[in-house]
Amino acid sequence: MCELLASLLPRQEVTIFDLVNDKTPPVLGDFDHIVLGGAIRMARLPRAARAYLKENAAVLAEKPHTLFLCCAFPEQFENYAEMVFPRNVLENADECVYFGGELDLSKQRGLDKILVRMMRNAIKESEDADAMLPGLLPEHVRLLADRLSGRQ
Ligand SMILES: Cc1cc2nc3c(=O)[nH]c(=O)nc-3n(C[C@H](O)[C@H](O)[C@H](O)COP(=O)(O)O)c2cc1C
Repeated sequence: MCELLASLLPRQEVTIFDLVNDKTPPVLGDFDHIVLGGAIRMARLPRAARAYLKENAAVLAEKPHTLFLCCAFPEQFENYAEMVFPRNVLENADECVYFGGELDLSKQRGLDKILVRMMRNAIKESEDADAMLPGLLPEHVRLLADRLSGRQ
């Protein structure tokens, strides 16, 4: 989703950092606008993102920023946002955007696969007639790109 966002901002200089896999953490002061987020697993962000947020919350809160989350249960999105982002970071964000989520069994192994199967079954067997398996929401990324590029 971050790569999609970057591709939709061809006139801006965009740098993507993967907090989990990239070794050198980004220096926030170098950027005009920061878009930060991640996928929820077991109601949390990955450890590296949690540590990064903790360390950089004060700086981040003072800079223009937008937050995003991926998760499988959209009705929990706002709860998760309050749980995973430091309060000053969430309150000062331009917005916190839901990028959708996916429960794709073929992408999971081991315990993760079992958990994804359980989540899929919980949704399919839900008494809520509107409940359906989640999907990624590229249109939400497009709306964000429009806002960031001043098109909207
Ligand atoms: C092990 C595991 C745990 C998850 N836990 C949650 C959860 O607690 N709440 C939720 O809404 N979605 C949960 N999800 C769904 C993920 O947020 C969703 O699959 C997301 O698209 C995963 O992105 P990722 O594969 O980049 O981590 C979980 C997914 C996995 C694989």
